[in-house]
Amino acid sequence: MKKTIKDVDLKGKKVIVRCDFNVPMQDGAISDDTRIKAALPTIRYLLEQNAAVILMSHMGRPKGEPKMEFTLKPVADRLSEYLNLDVKFVTSPVVVDDAVREAAAALAPGEVMLLENVRFRPEETKNGAEFAKELASLAEVFVQDAFGTAHRAHSSTAGVADYLPALSGFLIEKEVKFLGSAVEDPKRPFVAIMGGAKVGDKIPVIENLITKVDTLIIGGGMAYTFYKAMGLEIGTSILDADNVGLAGDLMKKAEDAGVKMLLPVDCVVAKEFDNNSESAIVDRDQIPADMMGMDIGPKTVELFRQTLADAATVVWNGPMGVFEMDNFAKGTKAVAEALADCDAITIIGGGDSAAAVEKFGLADKMTHISTGGGASLEFLEGKVLPGIAVIEDK
Ligand code: 3PG
Repeated sequence: MKKTIKDVDLKGKKVIVRCDFNVPMQDGAISDDTRIKAALPTIRYLLEQNAAVILMSHMGRPKGEPKMEFTLKPVADRLSEYLNLDVKFVTSPVVVDDAVREAAAALAPGEVMLLENVRFRPEETKNGAEFAKELASLAEVFVQDAFGTAHRAHSSTAGVADYLPALSGFLIEKEVKFLGSAVEDPKRPFVAIMGGAKVGDKIPVIENLITKVDTLIIGGGMAYTFYKAMGLEIGTSILDADNVGLAGDLMKKAEDAGVKMLLPVDCVVAKEFDNNSESAIVDRDQIPADMMGMDIGPKTVELFRQTLADAATVVWNGPMGVFEMDNFAKGTKAVAEALADCDAITIIGGGDSAAAVEKFGLADKMTHISTGGGASLEFLEGKVLPGIAVIEDK
C-alpha cells in the first residue's frame, strides 16, 4: 500500500503536486477537461488542510522548448473557475527561475499556483536530476496524482521524489484501486474486451490478461490479424502482418489456459475508408477481396452482448470499429450500451474507449473510466509504473 495525502499531516505545508493536465486543445481552447476535473478532489483536500499548493504538469510534446502553443495558461484559467479562487500562473521559459521561486516562497496557505509546462525543459523527459532538484526546492512534500503520466520516469513524475517525501493523491489511489483489483482480485466471470487497430500495441496486455480472465473478447481492427492467423481471407482490411504468428500463439495460449476467446463472427465491410463508402454486412469467411472490415456485425454484437450480460467484472480497452465515422460506430456503441446495462464492475481503459463512452453519453454508467491511455495499458500489462513506484509505502 502506498502512503496517501491522508496519512500525513499536511496542515500549513508547502506541497508540490504532479497532475496530468495534458488535455486536448482545439484552436487554443480546452476541448475536454476530464483530466482537470479528475485532479480537483486532491487539490480541494489540500486546500482544506490549509496547504500552499504548487501544481505542475506537462502538455503535449514541446520537445524541451518553450513553445507557447503548449502553455498551461488555459489550464490555470479553468482551474480558477472550478476552484473559485485565483490560481496564480507564473510562466517561465525555463519553468523554474527566480520569479517562480519568489512566487512559490510567497505562496500562502490556502493559495494555489501552477507552474509552466514542465516539458519546456529538455531535462524533464530525461529525468534530469538538476531539474528535479529545482522543482523539489519549491516545496516540502511531493504529491503524485498524475496517473496518465505515471508510466513516464521523468523529472516531475519520478526524479522529484529523490528530494522530497512522496505521497499519492486521490486520483492515483482510485485508479490503482479499480485497475488493480480488476486484474488481481476480480469478481468472476471476468471478461476483457480488447479492440483497436493493431495487435502489436496490445500483445503485452493480452498476454497478461489471458492468465486472469474467463473470457477474452477481441474486436476492432486487430481482429483481422487473428482472422489471418485462422487462415481466413480479409480483403483490404487492416493487417498487422508482423504479428500474425503471435496472434495464432495467443489463440493457442487461451485454449491451453481454458480461457474462452471470442472473435467477431461477422463484420461490416466497406470499399473505402470513408463514412459514405458503399458497405455491406458479411460473415467473417465471406469478406470480399476488394473490401475492408470497418466494424463488428449484428451477430457479433449479440454474441458479445450475451457474454457481457453474465459478467461480474469487465475491462474494456479499444474500440470495436471505426467509431469516429457514424456509419461504422454501431458495434462500439452496442458494446458501450451492453456495459452500461450490465450489473458488472465496468472499467474503461483510457484513450479511445474512454472517448467512445463519452461520445455515446454513457460515461456516468461506468464504474470507472481511467484517465490514463498509455498508463492504463502498461498497468494492465502488469508493469510497475515508475511514477507510482516512487511513492512511499505505508
Ligand atoms: C497521455 O496523454 O497519455 C499522457 O499525458 C502522457 O503523455 P505522453 O505520451 O506525451 O508522455
